[in-house]
Amino acid sequence: MSVERLPGSDPYAATGVPEFGLRNYWYPVLAGWRLRRRPKAVKVLGEDIVLFRDRGKVYALSERCPHRGARLSRGKCLYPGSGTISCCYHGWTFNGETGRCVAKLMEGPDATLPRQPVVKSYPVREFRGALWVFVGDMGAVPLEEDLPECLAATAEWQGISTWRSYRCNWRILKDNLCHDLHAPLLHRNSPELMFQPIFTHASRIAAVPLDDGKGIGYTARDGITEADYPGLGHFPPRRETWYRVLKPVGRGRDIDPAALATAKHGVKYRQSSLLPGITLIGRPSGNYYVCRWVTPIDADRTLYYSFSLFRRRGMLRNVANRVFWGLWLSWVHDWIFSDQDKRVLEAVIPGQELLSRSDIGVVAWRRFVLTHRRRPPEVARAAAVEEITRPAAE
Ligand code: FES
Ligand SMILES: [Fe+2]
Repeated sequence: MSVERLPGSDPYAATGVPEFGLRNYWYPVLAGWRLRRRPKAVKVLGEDIVLFRDRGKVYALSERCPHRGARLSRGKCLYPGSGTISCCYHGWTFNGETGRCVAKLMEGPDATLPRQPVVKSYPVREFRGALWVFVGDMGAVPLEEDLPECLAATAEWQGISTWRSYRCNWRILKDNLCHDLHAPLLHRNSPELMFQPIFTHASRIAAVPLDDGKGIGYTARDGITEADYPGLGHFPPRRETWYRVLKPVGRGRDIDPAALATAKHGVKYRQSSLLPGITLIGRPSGNYYVCRWVTPIDADRTLYYSFSLFRRRGMLRNVANRVFWGLWLSWVHDWIFSDQDKRVLEAVIPGQELLSRSDIGVVAWRRFVLTHRRRPPEVARAAAVEEITRPAAE
């Protein structure tokens, strides 16, 4: 179910977080194995892009043929090895690297060709089984610059990826991943949490900027497990808790720095939000992370790319991790747990929000985006000049 709204009206404009996502970052857009001989159309941050593969190498161009607007994903690579794609309509043929038109097949080899690139080309990489595209208004940074370390270091981390698409704006999905204390309620009966001790009430959330300036880490403490609500009764209701034999010990507290110092690896924050729309959740041991990457498609659709990352610790353990993921994590977490969120998020009615204490993580993320998102150097410079020369009276 998607929510209807007037074109051009952004219900979250007041947050300042762009409706179509943060430009000038890399995004995972498609599983590599899904791109074979046929070109594929994808939409990222509202931009229509065609991906095609020629002799193993992947290219990304703007999808619209500049001649008369046919979709280049309907065309094909007619000359293998040339790195070109030909439009299916009149045969204009484009270089996948530069976006230049190199031939007009219906006009003969002596046809006049535009000197400048006529189709936008996008930097594209294949990595960790996914195709990544840099969408923005500046030269691409190296892909590794945008990846959390556990995702970038393939020699040390084993990764398994899945994806889903959501019928909601990317901000609704990313806010959901900002440690906003919905899990103890919404997911309390998921198989993953059913037999775990969980906190059922708000603990105090705080957000701390990370040293590298790429995101914020969350801390939580003072969680309580149950309470009596005047006029209502006990929460959680007794009939819901009879099977919860485990006592909630330790969860919801900050990670003990002493334990962290002695741990071999260890994570500083169990949960963090990173630019451009990443949520990193780690186990205290530091041997497992789940990296959720939110890729905006357009105003009302979002691609949700999920990487489960296990530290490589010998062949047997690597196999065991894959089995564990296949038999348990994949359906319990990536499917059922996420589905509980999906059903809520796709039905959210956008509008003014009444934020509360449990939203500290969401508010911190929104503020962080405004101050720290990457901008082309000339735009960042102009903003800095304006900042320091603004009249004092303002
Ligand atoms: S529309 Fe593409 S060649 Fe004419
Ligand atoms: Fe959730």
